[in-house]
Formats: sequence, structure tokens, C-alpha cells
Amino acid sequence: MDVRVAILCDNTAGLMTKAEHGLSVFLEVDGRSFLWDCGQTDVAVYNANLLGIDLRSVEGIGLSHGHADHAGGLWAVLSNSGPKKIYLHPGALAHRYFVAGAMKRYVGIPYRPEALEAMSQGMELNSGPIDVLPGVRLTGEVPRVTEFEGPEPNLFVGEGRELVPDPFTDDQALVVDAPDGAVVLTGCAHSGAVNILKHVLETTPSGSIKAVIGGTHLGMGAPISKVEATMDFLEEIRPQIMMFNHCTGSVVMSRMQDRFKERFIPGATGILLQV
Ligand SMILES: [Fe+2]
Ligand SMILES: [Fe+2]
Repeated sequence: MDVRVAILCDNTAGLMTKAEHGLSVFLEVDGRSFLWDCGQTDVAVYNANLLGIDLRSVEGIGLSHGHADHAGGLWAVLSNSGPKKIYLHPGALAHRYFVAGAMKRYVGIPYRPEALEAMSQGMELNSGPIDVLPGVRLTGEVPRVTEFEGPEPNLFVGEGRELVPDPFTDDQALVVDAPDGAVVLTGCAHSGAVNILKHVLETTPSGSIKAVIGGTHLGMGAPISKVEATMDFLEEIRPQIMMFNHCTGSVVMSRMQDRFKERFIPGATGILLQV
């Protein structure tokens, strides 16, 4: 299986490319392509043009979860790619907020469901697994099995003043079930990076993981014990390639590079990877 990825949006800028707080990854499997998240504004489109990636070729767009730094770029992407089907968990459409003390900020998808329908080829709402290309699937809801991965303290969901801690049932991963090990693309891994990887190990035919790419949310104030437990698990399952980026944060990325050496690739926009 020929699997290639290109990082179109990330918090860190590579040479010539732009960056913003957000994530977008172009995936190509045996010549067919799919877009994983869209970043926050039009950075993914700018970088795709720079890298010579034709977004008209994508056969669909998957959203990892309902946060603006992954879905805000939809309008720019769809304006460039033409109408495509958008895959997302129904819970991704909820109203989401970042709350810190007296401050509250909207961080959900910045489009109404009617607008999403109108600007695309329609929405495919998936709670469970769904195939998006041959050998490529969205996981749907990720079972929570670890004790150290729970709700994030500042992230809430709800209407008006009735907010509750966000359970992130919508958080999912994109998986290429390659015969020599799965390639896993995460969004922010709000459902827990280890929960996601355990779920993939149980469901991928090879029973192993070759590569993990994407955000972990470990850089957003996660306790060091959670960072260590995640790294211990990664050591155990030994993926050949780990390219964590976005909300992993530079401090955690440095720790990972220290521990995993050449198996760890610090993420940045413009990186092309053959997995
Ligand atoms: Fe994010
Ligand atoms: Fe997020």
C-alpha cells in the first residue's frame, strides 16, 4: 500500500509555508486522496497551492471533531476543491466553548449545519466506523479505557449558559489499515491518544501500528504524569514513525524527540511523508 501524507496546516511553519493554530493533513493512498481536517482559516489552501497539491482531487473531507481550528478552514478548502462530502460525528455540530475563570470563548465549528450542507456535497454523519476510501476508515466514537485520559478542564459544550464538561464523543481518528501496520491520523486526540491507539490496535487487521501523525493535546496544560504515561505506551507499541504536531506543543515534542530519537519527527507545515 502506497501511503503518503502532506501537512497542510499545523502550529509550526516549515520553510516557505504558513502556519496557524490548527491542523489539516492531505492523505494519499494508492493514488486516491482524502483531506483530514481543514485548519482554522485559509492556511491549508495556501500551503496546498505552494506544495503543488490539487485539492480538487480529494474524494472527501473528514473532520476529527467539532473545533474551529480543524473546521474553520472548510469554506476556504471547499472554495478551492469544489463541493465534497464532509464526514463528521453528529456530536461535532454542538456548540463548544473554552472557559477560563470569567472568560468564555466560542471554539466550535463556525458554520451552521445548513451552511455546511449548502457549501458541500452534503454531510455524512457517523457515530461508528465508516470507510472513506479502500482500506481507509474513520473510527467513529473511541471507547474510553484508560484512567488518565478524561475530560479537559477548560473545554465545555452546551447552549447559552447551560454548559457541561465536553465529553468529546465526536473525537475520532482516520486510519489506513495497511497490511504492515496501521497509519493513524489524529485530530486533537481529545478522546485520549492512548484510547485511540488501543482502539486501532484492536480493530486493524495487522494488529499493529506503523505510524501516528497528528495532535495529542498534551501541550495544553496536561499533567506530566499523562505525558509520561502516553510516552510509555508509545514505547510499548513502538510505531516506526511518530509525527506529533499541533496541540502537542513544543515542550512535549522536545521530550518525545529526546526519548524516541529518529522515530520521532517534529511536525510542521510543508512536511511530505511516505509512510
Ligand atoms: Fe485542535
Ligand atoms: Fe480540539
